[in-house]
Amino acid sequence: MGQNILITGAAGYIGGSIVADFISRTAGPIKAANISAAVRSEEQSQSLSKLGVNVVKVDLSDETAVMEVIVSNKIDIVIHTASSMDSRLASHLIKGLGRNREISGKETYFIHSSVTTLFAPEVGWEDGEVRDTDPLFEKEKEMGDQNPVRKTNLLVVELAQTLGVTSINIALPFVYGRGSGQWKKLSANIPAHIRSGIAHKVVYKFDKDGNPPTAHISDLVALYGLLTERILQGTPIPSGKDGYYFAIAHTVGWWEIMDGLAKALYARGLVEEPKTPFWPSDEVAADYLGFPRMFLRAMGTTSGQLVPVNAYRLGWQPKWDKERFLKNIDDEVQAVLDLDKTKVKTTVFDSLLSGEK
Ligand SMILES: NC(=O)c1ccc[n+]([C@@H]2O[C@H](COP(=O)([O-])OP(=O)(O)OC[C@H]3O[C@@H](n4cnc5c(N)ncnc54)[C@H](OP(=O)(O)O)[C@@H]3O)[C@@H](O)[C@H]2O)c1
Repeated sequence: MGQNILITGAAGYIGGSIVADFISRTAGPIKAANISAAVRSEEQSQSLSKLGVNVVKVDLSDETAVMEVIVSNKIDIVIHTASSMDSRLASHLIKGLGRNREISGKETYFIHSSVTTLFAPEVGWEDGEVRDTDPLFEKEKEMGDQNPVRKTNLLVVELAQTLGVTSINIALPFVYGRGSGQWKKLSANIPAHIRSGIAHKVVYKFDKDGNPPTAHISDLVALYGLLTERILQGTPIPSGKDGYYFAIAHTVGWWEIMDGLAKALYARGLVEEPKTPFWPSDEVAADYLGFPRMFLRAMGTTSGQLVPVNAYRLGWQPKWDKERFLKNIDDEVQAVLDLDKTKVKTTVFDSLLSGEK
């Protein structure tokens, strides 16, 4: 009998793209599994139902509802993309998997989606170069849980271990490219710069350059697929305290990106000059981009010296590199122009932004 996989955030950019990929498989272990897609609204539910996938409408902050979904659908694997920073959601899902493990005696798995910027100096990481094979859990534990994303990382490892659930933590860099999901198809970072550029007729850059890690959405989805296949095949993989995977395909300079966007928007007559002046202030940047202030510098100036090891050991082979990204940067502009018409935008920072008001 096939195993049962629940993908949360299935109406989102990343979760939606994973669902699209998994249900398009024509052979292999993922094809044999039963895929359920968790969404939050009735509109999203109706939209995803057209794909022929089992859609469950659930607010993941409702512990009882989450338990019911996981137990009644006999979920073995949760791929959680709905929130890196609300630890309650991860807690409810892991508790559900713990219950299923008790009931069936079968292994259950929680694949969490976190953020690479946690390992950048702007977010308090002072240890310089970091590999995903380093003792990251122990270091995060020492740093404490004031950051909501780190707090969630710690909870995932500790609660999963207590309940006998196998946990995996995919740390995501900024992700670019048009998503293939049914609902949201745009990421957060680059589209925000494009919208700001169009609205104010200029592409700004921060006064400090950086060389951030990144990945194209299709490469990221391939990594989720690879990890899921390994689990379904019963192949032992790093997990729990050792289960961090930096999903980094390549790096690219922030100023190179902004210069590329300015040129692409200028060629379309959407900005006044193909130049990139500095942001007048961080306040203006946060306001125009709609980024939470606590993550603004991390989202616009950071480099981080992150070395991905675990994903490549699994056999991950990203197809996008820096040259391909910069050469096709106009595709990012086209995606925003096409998809903003749908009015469906990321809600990923909503809780932090409402806390700042
Ligand atoms: N995109 C990136 O470049 C990037 C980079 C690093 C890390 N990440 C992390 O990856 C995760 C996914 O990112 P994304 O870009 O795919 O975000 P997204 O497009 O906003 O998708 C998140 C989805 O989760 C749903 N959701 C949120 N809270 C929920 C709840 N309580 N119950 C049920 N569903 C809920 C949202 O529903 P609604 O549509 O109803 O709001 C949304 O559809 C986030 O945690 C983000 O921090 C993303």
